[in-house]
Amino acid sequence: MGNSHSSRKSSRNKISKKKSLQKLNNSESTKQQQTYDPSSKFHIPKNNNDIDRMQQEHFLFQHIWQCNFSSPIEQTLKAGNAKVLDVGCGPGVWLLSTSLEYPLTQFYGIDIAPVFPKEIKPENLEFIQSDITNGIRFDDNYFDFVRMNLLSTSLQENQWVYVIEELVRVLKPGGYIEIMEPEFQFYNIGPYFSKLNSCLINFISSTGANVHITQKIESFLNTSNSQTSSQTDVNLCNILSKLTEIHSDTRTIPIGGVHGGKIGTIYEELLTMYFKNTVVDILPWYIGTSRENYLELWKLCQEEFKNYASFTNLVRFWGKKVAE
Ligand SMILES: C[S@@+](CC[C@H](N)C(=O)[O-])C[C@H]1O[C@@H](n2cnc3c(N)ncnc32)[C@H](O)[C@@H]1O
Repeated sequence: MGNSHSSRKSSRNKISKKKSLQKLNNSESTKQQQTYDPSSKFHIPKNNNDIDRMQQEHFLFQHIWQCNFSSPIEQTLKAGNAKVLDVGCGPGVWLLSTSLEYPLTQFYGIDIAPVFPKEIKPENLEFIQSDITNGIRFDDNYFDFVRMNLLSTSLQENQWVYVIEELVRVLKPGGYIEIMEPEFQFYNIGPYFSKLNSCLINFISSTGANVHITQKIESFLNTSNSQTSSQTDVNLCNILSKLTEIHSDTRTIPIGGVHGGKIGTIYEELLTMYFKNTVVDILPWYIGTSRENYLELWKLCQEEFKNYASFTNLVRFWGKKVAE
């Protein structure tokens, strides 16, 4: 009897899971009708949970790379009188950590949202609230090191050209630029997470952002102008040609503790914070489902992480500005 009960229960579960996926498929087909309101600015940190997530991400990524930067700038930062800029710095965890480590270097962070510490911070660290799509308010050739992390969901594809142009402009010849982004591709995932993630990517694309910008940058860093198609691509390619000694490094992050151990557990927690907090007001609306249904789906995704050895990649690029 116990067996027949549990087999009925399991077939009910299967039916309800199938229904959830069907609902998601149906709602996906109506997504074209939803128009994103840019004033909702989903990519700007909206509460302490977003700030917590960014702080925890910093420590995870630091662990994954076993360093705070890959560019060969250690000696410059130690020597003193160097200047460093972190663009889209968020709560400034990277800056707080590196400015303490290199007290003779001056650090600056820029973010559109004032989520960085205003008073309690090292003396060699300054934060500026500013929108980088309006330009970076520093002179040409000012910084020894410029970095930008995790802006692919914030910047529209055509804004990348201008922003990278600005980053290169304020960098001294011989200085280094470093960019880190997730690939935004998940491997070996189950059907629920696959569907939810494609809804997320569709939504982000509808805002004008290109979450696969890393693949584009990587190909431009390794190819010539002649292989590019649009004017935006040609412009991006031209700016990147001002860089030399270009490197990229890709690191894998597992998802879920069953297959990914402690790192997998932490990354699943960060994804949960993202799906249950950062995009919870917008993604159910975009896919045309209720918040409850959406949160149920996230639970099913988490179940999948137990059964699939899922993973994703993070990519860091760095290069040196050529002498003028
Ligand atoms: C995903 S967070 C990454 C924060 C930080 N770089 C990190 O690695 O933790 C993106 C940050 O970029 C900021 N941002 C988005 N658009 C921006 C803009 N146009 N100008 C300046 N900052 C921006 C957001 O406010 C947010 O803090």
